[in-house]
Amino acid sequence: MAIFGNFDDASREFVISRPDTPLPWLNYLGQDEYFGMCTQTAGGYSFWRDAKLRRITRYRYNNNPMDNDGRFLYVRSGKTVWNPGWKPTRTKLDAFECRHGLGYTRITGRKDGIEVEQLMFVPPNENLEIWKVTVRNRTRKARKLTVFSFVEFCSFEALNDMTNYQRTYSIGEVEVEGSAIYHKTEYRERRNHYALFGCTRKIDGYDTSRDAFVGVHNGLHDPKAVLAGRCTNSHAHGWNPVGAHQINLSLKPGEEETFAFVLAYVEQGELPKFDRPFVMNKSRGRETLARFSDLKAVDSAFASVRRRWEELLSTYQAPKVPNEHLRRMVNTWNQAQVMATFNLSRSTSGYETGIGRGMGFRDSNQDILGFVHMLPDRARQRILDIGATQLSDGTCYHQYQPLTKKGNAEAGSGFNDDPLWLILSTCAYIRETGDATILAEPIGFADKPGSRDTLLDHLEISIAYTMRNRGPHRLPLIGRADWNDCLNLNCFSEQPNESFQTTANKTKGDVAESVMIAGLFLYASRDLAALYRFLEREADATRIDKGYAEMLSIVEDQAWDGAWYTRAFDAFGKPVGSKTCEEGKIFIESQAWCVLGGAGQGNGRARKALEAVEKYLYKPDLGCALQYPPYSTYHLELGEVTSYPPGYKENAGVFSHNNTWIHIGWTLFGDGDRALAYYLSICPSAKKDHSVYRSEPYVYAQMTASQFSPTPGEGKNSWLTGTAAWSFVVASQHILGIRPDFDGLRVDPCVPRKWKGFTVVRKFRGVTYTIEVSNPKGVSKGVRSLVVDGLRVAGNLIIPPSDGRTAVSVKATLGA
Ligand code: BGC
Ligand code: NOJ
Repeated sequence: MAIFGNFDDASREFVISRPDTPLPWLNYLGQDEYFGMCTQTAGGYSFWRDAKLRRITRYRYNNNPMDNDGRFLYVRSGKTVWNPGWKPTRTKLDAFECRHGLGYTRITGRKDGIEVEQLMFVPPNENLEIWKVTVRNRTRKARKLTVFSFVEFCSFEALNDMTNYQRTYSIGEVEVEGSAIYHKTEYRERRNHYALFGCTRKIDGYDTSRDAFVGVHNGLHDPKAVLAGRCTNSHAHGWNPVGAHQINLSLKPGEEETFAFVLAYVEQGELPKFDRPFVMNKSRGRETLARFSDLKAVDSAFASVRRRWEELLSTYQAPKVPNEHLRRMVNTWNQAQVMATFNLSRSTSGYETGIGRGMGFRDSNQDILGFVHMLPDRARQRILDIGATQLSDGTCYHQYQPLTKKGNAEAGSGFNDDPLWLILSTCAYIRETGDATILAEPIGFADKPGSRDTLLDHLEISIAYTMRNRGPHRLPLIGRADWNDCLNLNCFSEQPNESFQTTANKTKGDVAESVMIAGLFLYASRDLAALYRFLEREADATRIDKGYAEMLSIVEDQAWDGAWYTRAFDAFGKPVGSKTCEEGKIFIESQAWCVLGGAGQGNGRARKALEAVEKYLYKPDLGCALQYPPYSTYHLELGEVTSYPPGYKENAGVFSHNNTWIHIGWTLFGDGDRALAYYLSICPSAKKDHSVYRSEPYVYAQMTASQFSPTPGEGKNSWLTGTAAWSFVVASQHILGIRPDFDGLRVDPCVPRKWKGFTVVRKFRGVTYTIEVSNPKGVSKGVRSLVVDGLRVAGNLIIPPSDGRTAVSVKATLGA
């Protein structure tokens, strides 16, 4: 079994020990407005705010070799040319290490006694990235060598950049001043921004033309200038502008030299654009470089990246959790992934090109559930931004562009689960902060600009929308699809070029219904009723309870299939996810949401539903498949779900996101052993064979090929998945059980019986709680005693102190 790396938990790093990982293993840099992606071989690209409209460096997806563009350093020592990150030359290294940390990646490569370390990060609140480079002569001889830097610029609009060469090959413009290469394509016309690639050290040459540096017939693995040993000081006029610096070094035995490259995005603002014709006013760019000209500034910027992460993570730390996988995920990596999903939704990863999807309505709302504890103010703003894209009849634009905050008309609306997720994110925010003022924010509606409708109006409209749009079984209409984007019951697509997401060929007599939405409605209604009770608005709470009771009885009357909940009813009123179906007999989502929504209580159905999941869908070490049996043929009336080969994606792949809801389900039944076993079945850190799993061991992938596929266990589409937020909710709130509630912090663990105890340090509404949980009787659930700062408290709720204490110590004992 090949080993590709391991966790260094103390430094919160994943250490990759060989560059040829089974797939590129990615990390994210930046968390404000400037973002970069960086793989273990320094592959990836950077952008400012919007990966489609402000792409800084170029990246070719679907490339061969995979992951072929990036932040490269070439070293030429004698006749040998190599990269510390191995790629693009793939010259065999004597030593290689890549440390992916939170917000930074450090790659170190050694060849023939020369070691080069490249540390890449984005300082907080800066629109730039820094590569701090240290070159060490590890030999006893004096050595002369040349280091070249290399990035390929993108003409900012990434889709145009890769499709419209008749224009882009004639518009590229650059300027060079000292070590600074300015990429100013389209700056003469409508752009008021540029990119800049500088170096803190004196340089010995540069290139800005790709044809000059790489060559028309060469590749990044054998760039002309590097082979020749020198740059040509070229100026790009059109074609492909790049940034390359040449640095000649002479190092005594044991000597090292450190310098840094700065790649920045600069907005010109109100400043005059030009000093004289064709010469841009570079004062902002010069200031930017000047700030980092001293390596002390570089080091202190890096220290602030680390400090900031420690601060963010300090809101929830569980240092003594007995299981190492859950411990490292909950303390470090799961939170890092949640940050990436919050920032980027589903737009930019190794699988999302940044030119396709914007921010998703349902996705971003769910991302908040795992993020809100870290930066509640940013969550607040996000909820208001997303809410404002909702339309006044309750429908939602399915996606919006982060730069404009406007709904994307092309992606359309009509995904009927969308409106309800806004209730979950809003309640999560208020539970975390106690700040109900968010409800009164007048955000208006996308189709009523300037209106004063509040966020609370939105929540009500979401409930009303679901109630109003129901079908023959009085269950919610599904519209284009529900959470399962591929259950397209009105699509009826016969044309291969139609999008499953936007086509709805059956618009008249819309009858297809979703049981998953019904379950989600139950859950959202309970949330909203609890919120009204917190606001002491009993009449409103009771009104919401009534809707809940009505939907609950419909679910029980119409959606119980005998041993599990039916998934949906199609456009002909036929059940989907029922024992009467030939394939797709049982789906995971309706089991999960009916149980989470409180259905199946008192009649044994909830437990049966979870047991059916275990029987038909669950495999230890793999997780739960989305449904069973997979569809073997395309069904016009079911849509994209049947378009995937069996065992992949929504067609019975292990779709990690929905697994997390089942984990919560088991904790509701107090089954801590199952909850942890299921949790570990999809946990990337617990994956045993990386050659089989292939994806990053430190973050969740959207999907793992299931037992029904030819490649079981293969993870795909890592990083940007709702699994991040939900699995943090599972681990932190339901297994470890420290859960924010409207009136305080609830202590409600559900753990394996053999766990003796653990500690959680939780910052909540300005108070740090150190909560020691012990389990002397070997139970899974149930707090027998709760002692808060020495005082015994009834129940399991910690009410925030009113006497100004900022540190509170809690002892919780589990037991019957
Ligand atoms: C995928 C879904 C995804 C949808 C979004 C589909 O092709 O299978 O997982 O939600 O695209 O556009
Ligand atoms: C990924 C999408 O981003 C998400 O919105 C959807 O719920 C799942 N796929 C399931 O189809």
